[in-house]
Amino acid sequence: MSQDSFIAYRHHRWFWITGLVLAGLTGWYFSEEPLGGRNGGTTFGYTVGALSAILIGYLMWFGVRKRSYRSKITTLQGWLSAHVWIGVGLAYLVLLHSGFQIGINVHTLAYGLMLVTIASGIWGAANYRIVPYQTPSNRGGASLGTLLDQIEQVGREIAELAQGKSPSTAALLKKLNTGTVPSVWAVLLKPRREVVLSVANAAAAIQELPEVEVEAGHKLVELIDRRLELLHKLKREMRAQALLKIWLYFHIPIAFGTVVAVLIHIFVVLYYRDVSDELLNLFSCVSCHGVQEAGDKGAGGI
Ligand code: HEM
Ligand code: HEM
Repeated sequence: MSQDSFIAYRHHRWFWITGLVLAGLTGWYFSEEPLGGRNGGTTFGYTVGALSAILIGYLMWFGVRKRSYRSKITTLQGWLSAHVWIGVGLAYLVLLHSGFQIGINVHTLAYGLMLVTIASGIWGAANYRIVPYQTPSNRGGASLGTLLDQIEQVGREIAELAQGKSPSTAALLKKLNTGTVPSVWAVLLKPRREVVLSVANAAAAIQELPEVEVEAGHKLVELIDRRLELLHKLKREMRAQALLKIWLYFHIPIAFGTVVAVLIHIFVVLYYRDVSDELLNLFSCVSCHGVQEAGDKGAGGI
C-alpha cells in the first residue's frame, strides 16, 4: 500500500465526506444567532461537541481495529483513510463547537492536546513512505519470525552442504560474507549498510575449488545470495517496525492525553451547568419569594 493510496483511498472518499459534513455544519452555524452568542453551550454547540467526542472515540478505536486478526489490508486502508481525514477535520469541527472561542482554560487544553495529536498524525502520515503499511508485523503478524526462520533454514543448508568438503570450500565461505542478523540499533543507525554478494569474488572462489566440488560451490553461492536477500528484507522490516513504534510512542500517549482532557472538559462543563442551574433556581426562588412577600405585605396593607 503506498502512501497515496490511503490518503486518496477510493477517490478521496473520506476527504469529501469530511468536507461535506463540515460545510453543512458551517451552514447551520451561521444560520443561527443564539442569545448570548455562539459558544459550546448552545444546542448547536452541544451537538457538535458530542459529535467531536464521538469522533475522537472512533479515532482511538483504530488502535484496536488495526490489530484485529480479521482485518484485511483493504479495510484497514479505508479505516486509516477515514482516520486521517476525520482527524484533520476535527481541528475545525471543535472550533465550530466552541464558537471559535478559546481561552486559557481546561477546555482549550483539550483542544491544544488534540491539535498536537493531529500534528503528530500528519507528520506520521507524511513519513509513511518509510514505514510501509502492509508490513504484517505492524498488524501483529509474524513476518519477522517467518523471515528469521527462513534465514536459519538457509544457514543450515549452507552448513550441511559445506560439511566434509575441502579447505577451498571453507575458504569460499570465508571470502563471501554470508551476513549476520542485525541488531535494531544497527538497522536504525546504519540503514544504508548492505552486504551484497560480489559476483567477481564468487567466480574467483569457485575457480579455486577442486573439480568435484564446483557444482556444490555453485549451489553454495546461490544459497548465500538467498540468505543475503532474506537478511536485506529482514533489515527493512525491522527498520519499518522500529520507526513506526518510535512514532507511535508519541502519537498514542498524546491521543490518550486528549481523551483525558476532553473527559475533564465535559465533566467540568456539565458539573458547572448543574451548579449554575441550581443557583438560577435558587435566585428565581428568592426573587419569587421576595415578590410574594411584597405582594402579601401589600395585600395586608390594603
Ligand atoms: C460531549 C461533548 C462535549 C460537550 C457536552 C461540551 C460542552 C461544552 C460547553 C457547554 C462549552 C461552553 C463552556 C463555556 O462557555 O463556559 C464548551 C466549550 C468549549 N469546548 Fe466543549 N464540549 C464537548 C466536547 C468538546 C471537545 C471534544 C473539545 C475539544 C477537543 C471541546 C473543546 C471546547 C473548547 C475549546 C471550548 C471553548 C472554551 C472557552 O470558551 O474558552 N469540547 N464545550
Ligand atoms: C484527535 C486526533 C487523533 C487521535 C485521537 C488519534 C489516535 C490514534 C490512535 C489511537 C492510533 C492507533 C495507534 C496504535 O494503537 O497503534 C493512531 C494511529 C495512527 N494515526 Fe492517529 N489519531 C488522531 C489524528 C490523526 C491524524 C490527523 C492523522 C494523520 C493526518 C493520524 C495518523 C495516524 C496514523 C498514520 C496512524 C498509524 C496507523 C498504523 O499504525 O498503521 N492520526 N491514531
